Amino acid sequence: MTRAARCTIEVVADAGRSTLADDVRVGLTLRPRTLPPKHLYDARGAALFERITRTPEYYVTRTEQGLLDEVAPEIAASVARAYRHINGAPTDLVELGSGAGRKTRALIEALQRHTPVRYVPFDVSGEMLRASAERLLSEYPERFTVHGLVADYTRDLARLPPSSGRLVAFLGSTIGNFTEEGAVAFLAGVARAMSGADRLLVGFDLVKAPAVIDAAYNDAEGITAAFNRNVLVVVNRELDADFDVDAFAHCARYVPERARVEMHLQATRDVEARIGALGLSVRMPEGEAIRTEISRKFTEPRVRTLYARAGLALERWFESPDGYFGLALGARMEG
Ligand code: AVJ
Repeated sequence: MTRAARCTIEVVADAGRSTLADDVRVGLTLRPRTLPPKHLYDARGAALFERITRTPEYYVTRTEQGLLDEVAPEIAASVARAYRHINGAPTDLVELGSGAGRKTRALIEALQRHTPVRYVPFDVSGEMLRASAERLLSEYPERFTVHGLVADYTRDLARLPPSSGRLVAFLGSTIGNFTEEGAVAFLAGVARAMSGADRLLVGFDLVKAPAVIDAAYNDAEGITAAFNRNVLVVVNRELDADFDVDAFAHCARYVPERARVEMHLQATRDVEARIGALGLSVRMPEGEAIRTEISRKFTEPRVRTLYARAGLALERWFESPDGYFGLALGARMEG
């Protein structure tokens, strides 16, 4: 089969529609001021996040990777057992928020020991999705096809292509950016899109010594600080605003009582900004902050409860040897 014949990319209408204007209007008007973390990831933000993953302090990505390398064969075996594959039909590897780095490869290679694989990346960025599809198609010439969806995984899950068996992966502890209620609603939506034979794999960053977490979100090189401030660069560019980005300090701290990191941009002096596209002015006295992200940390019992509330049964739980990171393999609950 030619490369083109092995690759379908569907673009869901309106997938890339930005909610930035609405999010800024609401988030910067109400108190506490907030901006949703998804706007951190324009091209520059994605590149900065990529650099964060390579800092010595940010253990999250490399710990998940090591664990995945270790347990991908067991995960694939569980998936293959659940899915009595008919006539060599492929298993779909659905990746919500496609990274297409080494994580994806570990799962593809493990699944391929059982069945052909159809990779189904799900991402709002068509550009990133196409680039990763091309790369993987050239790396896996056999028993590998791609059906990408340029779509919003918080909204368009019903658009998943029909399948005889899936492993749906939501990695990187992105689930930690949701509140508990938000995570329940999101995972319940994933569960509804799954059949009884499908499996869901979610990566969870775990509760640990606060100093370790604080360091991970305050790297010495200041890359996380640049990543955080980048959201104001995005607002300035996209909404014709004039925030003085340098008037905001990066603040991220782990709050143990809430088991989450709270990331803010704090005004270091009185700030006045005009958001041209919204006809809105924002005044922030020195010390006032905009919350730009929460990053929740979990325990196995919490994950089990979260899954149950979303209609999912936790089938297997894998933890890195240092206890820093967990992978939860689940299935839809019966009935
Ligand atoms: C990509 C959402 C998992 O919460 O750790 C990294 C983003 N924020 N440093 C996380 C992030 C600050 C990251 N996630």
